Amino acid sequence: MRRRALTLVGMTVVVAAAVAGSTSPMASTAHAAQAAKALPVAVAIRTPSATTRTPEPTAGDSPTLPLDVTYDLRPTPDALATASPRPLPDCGYEDVPAWLGGPDDWALTLVDTVYALPDSYEPPDLVNASQAGFATGFDVRALLIPDLTAMAAAAADAGAPLGIASGYRSYWTQYSTFNYWVYGEGYDTAILDSARPGHSEHQLGLAIDFMDLYGQAPWLYADFATESAAGIWLAAHAAQYGFVMSYPAGRQAVTCYTYEPWHYRYVGRQAARAILASGLTLREWLWQRQPVPGPAAAAPTLRWTAP
Ligand code: DAL
Ligand code: ZN
Repeated sequence: MRRRALTLVGMTVVVAAAVAGSTSPMASTAHAAQAAKALPVAVAIRTPSATTRTPEPTAGDSPTLPLDVTYDLRPTPDALATASPRPLPDCGYEDVPAWLGGPDDWALTLVDTVYALPDSYEPPDLVNASQAGFATGFDVRALLIPDLTAMAAAAADAGAPLGIASGYRSYWTQYSTFNYWVYGEGYDTAILDSARPGHSEHQLGLAIDFMDLYGQAPWLYADFATESAAGIWLAAHAAQYGFVMSYPAGRQAVTCYTYEPWHYRYVGRQAARAILASGLTLREWLWQRQPVPGPAAAAPTLRWTAP
C-alpha cells in the first residue's frame, strides 16, 4: 500500500517537472510540493476524542489545532537534577504544545504525534540550503549549515553525493502535504507516513529528507538506506555530523511512523552521539527530556549532557 502510494508521488514529480519544462530532480521535488498543495483534498484531523473526520474546509477557513494549553516549560537546574524519566506512552494523537525553550534549546524540542507547533511558528534563522552547497529551493535553519556543509563534502568525497528532497515546511505546507497523503492513501495509512500540520519536524527547519544527487526520490527505493549510495553513507555517518534518522526500521511502535530512511533531524554532534550511544530512537530520547505539560507542570525532565 505504502509503496503504491509513494509511486503516486513519483508520478506527480514527473508530471510537475514536465509542466515546468525541467528535468532537474531538485526542481521536480519543489514542483511536487506545489502540485500537492493544489490538490482538492478532504481534511481529517483526528483528536483523541474525535474519531470521525471533520468536514472539508471551505475557502477562507483557517483550521488550527487546539493549542490552548499554557504553562511555563522552562526547567530549573534543581528540578532537572531530581526529575525521573517518564515512560513513553503508546502512540497517540494529541496536540500538546511543543517545548521550544530558549535559543539554545533547539536540539531538545520534541515534535511528534503528541507535541505540536503552532501555525505561527517559523524558525528564526531560515536560510536556503544553497548556503551548504546544495542546488535546491529548500530552506533550513542557519545553525545547521556548517555541519551540513561538512557532511555533504564528506559524502561527496566518499562517492555518495547528497541531494535534498525536502527541508523546512511551514505549518500550511505541511497541512497540504498531509492532506495530499490522506487523499492518496486514506487517513489510516497517511497518519503513519505523514505528520499532521504542526506535528512535523520539518516545521522546525531542522529536518531534511535526503536523496542521491541526481537520483530518484528516496521513497521510490524499497530501502533507501541499503540501496542508494547516499542512503548507505548517511546511515553510517550522518550522526557524526549531528543528524539522526528519526524513524528507523522496526521501531514504528515507538516512533509512531513507518520507516523513513531519508528523513534526518539535526540535533548537533553531541546530542547525536548521545542518542546513538543510548540505543534509543530520537523520540524516546527526547521524550524523557520534555518538561511535563499542564498548569501544575512542575516536574521538567532530564536534559541531555554531552557524553
Ligand atoms: N513524514 C514525516 C513524518 C513528516 O511528515 O514530518
Ligand atoms: Zn521528512
